[in-house]
Amino acid sequence: MIRHSAQFLPSQPVAFTRYLNTTPVPPAQRQTILANPQFGAAFTDHMVGMDWDERQGWHNARVEPYGPIAMMPSAVVFHYGQEIFEGLKAYRHADGSIWTFRPQDNAKRFQRSAHRLSLPELPVDHFLASLKQIVDVDNEWVPGAEGQSLYLRPFMFGSEAFLGVRSAREARFHVIASPAGAYFRGGNDSVSIWVSDYYRRAGKGGTGSAKCGGNYAASLLPQGQALEHGCDQTLFLDTEGNVDECGSMNIVFVMSDGTVVTPESDTILPGITRESLLQLAEDRGMKVVRRSVSLAEWREGVASGSVREVFACGTAAVVIPIRELCGIDGGEEFREQQPRGELAQSLRDELVGIQMGRDDDRHGWLYRLDVD
Ligand code: PLP
Ligand code: COI
Repeated sequence: MIRHSAQFLPSQPVAFTRYLNTTPVPPAQRQTILANPQFGAAFTDHMVGMDWDERQGWHNARVEPYGPIAMMPSAVVFHYGQEIFEGLKAYRHADGSIWTFRPQDNAKRFQRSAHRLSLPELPVDHFLASLKQIVDVDNEWVPGAEGQSLYLRPFMFGSEAFLGVRSAREARFHVIASPAGAYFRGGNDSVSIWVSDYYRRAGKGGTGSAKCGGNYAASLLPQGQALEHGCDQTLFLDTEGNVDECGSMNIVFVMSDGTVVTPESDTILPGITRESLLQLAEDRGMKVVRRSVSLAEWREGVASGSVREVFACGTAAVVIPIRELCGIDGGEEFREQQPRGELAQSLRDELVGIQMGRDDDRHGWLYRLDVD
């Protein structure tokens, strides 16, 4: 059975039952974590949960202590990887209010991912209400310093205890939250990229444009190879040698004629950060083109000067210039320095300015979380 989009179905307002954590992280320990948040290393005191089954639909919406999830060893997710997730950030503005960025787009992407992984689609208003719940109960976990945020991780998986290969008839949705600083350990200065010449992340008609755990599982071995070669991230190509994306970021090229180019295909996750940066570039009068870019065009363009700058972008990493492109070509290793341009930094500043409430949100991208 193919489930069709639920976004057109009316959804009932969702009421959350709250079970408070009786042993929250002591305030002093929380302050220590917030003084130097890593990425994805510490978690807040609570999480959101919601259950789904064919008979009741979404039900049992709750806020509960962050902690282990009890499931049968035969649950579908452990065997067939029926799992999807999202990633977005809550920002504390100077006046103390808490906002997030384009969450409706994450909610819709979550629905598309659910559709592809044959999971039930969560109504957009349930997704948004869940974000408000976690931020309300764990308000004190939202950092306020520049470059810091509370990373919100909604995820869903097939929880039915059944080993036949078909869509689970029971699923669970959760949101966990983690104070976040820079994604890369070295900070946000720049990254070096290793081209995965053999392993691919996705294929046409596959799950590349869905945000599902399996895509990331497939990227871990090549990501290990990138690290072995002294690089920060893996670049994935399609079967024709065109640039897809990195394991957790989209790629954007700035050409010498000022055109901004980005690859688009069903093997690439359509990033909300990239979409926003392209809009900001268009607002500056720059031409944006979505087309395939081969690795050969990239390397030759850098050599000839027709590629002025290349950067990567995503929620966790924000915007990060690529300083080095490395890989194997004809059995020989290459390490090519990339030109340093100014657009990545300038777009990053503008995006962060909007997200932190300093600059005019002229596209209406911000969404307030700390109100009903
Ligand atoms: N591509 C992949 C594979 C990702 O994991 C991410 C991060 O979520 C992105 C691109 C960027 O997407 P977004 O800007 O919506 O975070
Ligand atoms: C994000 O940028 O939100 C991601 O999901 C990337 C990575 C941490 C998986």
